[in-house]
Amino acid sequence: MYIPYDRPRRLRADRNIRRMVRENHLRVDDFIYPIFVVPGTNVREEIASLPGQFHVSADQAVALAREAAELGIPAVEVFGIPTYKDADGSSAWDAEQPVQEAVRAIRKEVPDMYVITDVCLCQYTMTGHCGHVEDGVICNDASLELLSRVAVSHAAAGAHMVAPSDMMDGRIGAMREALDEAGYTDVAIMSYAAKFASAYYGPFRDAVHSAPQFGDRKTYQMDPANAREAMKEIDLDLEEGADAIIIKPALAYLDVVRAARERTDVPLCVYNVSGEYAMVKVAAKAGLIDERRLILESLLSMKRAGADLIITYHALEAARWLREGVEP
Ligand code: PBG
Ligand code: ZN
Repeated sequence: MYIPYDRPRRLRADRNIRRMVRENHLRVDDFIYPIFVVPGTNVREEIASLPGQFHVSADQAVALAREAAELGIPAVEVFGIPTYKDADGSSAWDAEQPVQEAVRAIRKEVPDMYVITDVCLCQYTMTGHCGHVEDGVICNDASLELLSRVAVSHAAAGAHMVAPSDMMDGRIGAMREALDEAGYTDVAIMSYAAKFASAYYGPFRDAVHSAPQFGDRKTYQMDPANAREAMKEIDLDLEEGADAIIIKPALAYLDVVRAARERTDVPLCVYNVSGEYAMVKVAAKAGLIDERRLILESLLSMKRAGADLIITYHALEAARWLREGVEP
């Protein structure tokens, strides 16, 4: 009979030794909580496509940010739904729109919160595209000026960091220059460096009414088949001045996260997107999974792949579970 010499099970024998040899950890410091702001006051409505997430007016965004702060979450990312759309998405850089209003309110009322904003145009353009459109073509260079205005308006409202999610070429360089010229040299840029044209964004597009009105986003977001190209996108964004980078979505792209971790030393963030979240919620509701363990296991896998930070709709609940000592 074969008797094993190596016995890895010795280091799994009880909870204490497992804690001692654990290689990766989820911490509340890792989480960035997305908040969806809408016009109005005292609005707090559950989003149908994202159970457990809410459309909130600026005052209620403050309440959510406060809740996050009380749980120890260091940052929120603000997404907006404007009162009007036009060809070039001018409501995106309008100081009186929900994002700018919410950023000002959160900075004032919840000083101990790091405020990040999503910089894009698709919620704000009639076309639902992330840039300027001419004859059915999403024009790169003409979009840079528009996106830069958005970044500067978020900085003016008090954003600590802007996160451009449009995937136009050169936008990081353009935004860095625009921010610096406007005096916002201390506002950081975390670029969605590798954002894939993914079906996992479906529930988000329902939530913010940003589905493209013609075609799709494949001419600017990345082909899901490409990991090497993601390295090029990361290199370019870092050369142009990005302070941190995002890989998005998370779970289906953990190989890209690992490759990015090995390539660069800058802070690396993953976006645990709406489709990933919604699938878990639906499966949990159907009684098919142990929700808490599955969510913590998934978030931990992002850390193991090499991520430093996780943008996740699970942030509040996961922070509570970590506080309670729940383990995956
Ligand atoms: C807008 C944007 C999208 C997401 C974040 N910013 C959607 C898209 O590109 O269509 C997706 C977030 C999610 O699915 O949770 N550019
Ligand atoms: Zn967009």
